[in-house]
This record gives sequence, structure tokens and C-alpha cells, in this order.
Amino acid sequence: MLAEQLKKDTLQSHQQLEKMLVGRMKAIRSQEDYVKLLQLFYTYFGGLETLIDQYINQSELSDYAERRKAQALANDIETLGGHPMSKASGENLPQIKNKLQAYAALYVIEGSTLGGKIISKMMAQQLGISNGEGLSFFNGYGDDTEAKWDSFKDVLNKLTKSSEEDKVVIDSANETFEKFKQWAEKNA
Ligand code: HEM
Repeated sequence: MLAEQLKKDTLQSHQQLEKMLVGRMKAIRSQEDYVKLLQLFYTYFGGLETLIDQYINQSELSDYAERRKAQALANDIETLGGHPMSKASGENLPQIKNKLQAYAALYVIEGSTLGGKIISKMMAQQLGISNGEGLSFFNGYGDDTEAKWDSFKDVLNKLTKSSEEDKVVIDSANETFEKFKQWAEKNA
């Protein structure tokens, strides 16, 4: 099954990104630092969504509108007094030139809701946020997170028709993780 294989074959690039971001997140002590973290996600995921939009829409994936993250990120940034920055583009993003690559990038974006639950608890604690303000992106789908993840994996498992197509998705997911790490390093 593609979803299972994706998890296994992107484990290393996920862990490398996670390690770097956890270090950065642990050091966050002010709202200003937290807004910088939100900007990192807004600029990268926002750039990805612009490309993904060319290949996936609501008729293709019925809950695609709900799965977009840039607006939630922009709202969180504005709630905390910031202004969303320019989205990443060009070489800073992975190649997304077909539907398979679009789904690979969406896999990386959707998977971030799983770690998001941990991150939102961490941020609430470190910044003393008790009303959820500015945490809508990291809270993701709340109690629906697991169900949304399962239904996305069902879509992935019906997406490809050959091992060549599987490889396109896996390579592209790895590129999406790696380019995010590079973008985070550039915007440290
Ligand atoms: C920085 C802190 C992060 C932590 C602590 C974290 C943690 C986690 C955890 C606990 C899971 C669930 C594993 C499971 O239930 O099997 C997960 C899965 C996942 N995360 Fe992260 N993550 C982080 C960042 C990210 C980011 C920034 C992205 C995307 C850019 C991401 C993408 C994914 C993906 C795609 C999966 C799904 C793996 C699968 O196929 O099951 N994670 N992460």
C-alpha cells in the first residue's frame, strides 16, 4: 500500500526535519518568536498550495478546501499582530508538475497535523496561551485529526497504478521534506 510505503521511505527526511524544528520550537519564549515559526510554515505551505491547486481541486478531492492550511496560518499570524510574508516560490519549492507530485506534497502537509497536536501543546505551555489564540494551524482538525488522516491515506492508496508511479510520489514527498528543511535553514 502506498501510504505505508511513504511512511517507511520518508522516515529519514521526516526525522531530520523534525529534529531541527523541535530544537527551534523548544527555544521559543515569546510571541514574536512564535510568529516567526508561523511565518516559516505559512510561506512554505502557502507556496506548496499554490502549486498543488493546479492539479487538485474539490472535484478531485472533495474535502480539499478544508485541507488547505495557508489561511489558518495567516489568521494565526494576524491574531498575534503579524503580517503574512511572501510565499516561497521557484527553486525553494519541490517540483510539482503533475497530480502525483501534488499528492506527495499534500501528504507532507497533511502529515504535519499529526505532529501539530504535540506542537500546539508545547506552544500553549511555553507561551502561556490558554484560549487557543494563534494555535488554529497547529491544532489542525482537533479530535477529527485521526479520521482525516485515515481518509487521506485511503485516497493515497487508490492513487497509483504501478511501482513507477509509487516511486514518483515517494521521491517527491522526500523532496518536499528536504526543501522545507532548506527553507527553514535559510529563514532561521
Ligand atoms: C517538529 C515537530 C514534529 C513532530 C514532533 C512530529 C511528530 C510526528 C508524529 C508523532 C507523527 C505520527 C506518527 C504516527 O502516528 O505514526 C508524525 C507523522 C507525520 N509527520 Fe510529523 N512531526 C513534526 C513535524 C512535521 C512537519 C513539519 C511535517 C511536514 C512538513 C511533518 C510531516 C509528517 C508526516 C507526513 C507524517 C505521517 C507519517 C505517516 O505516513 O504515517 N511532521 N509526525
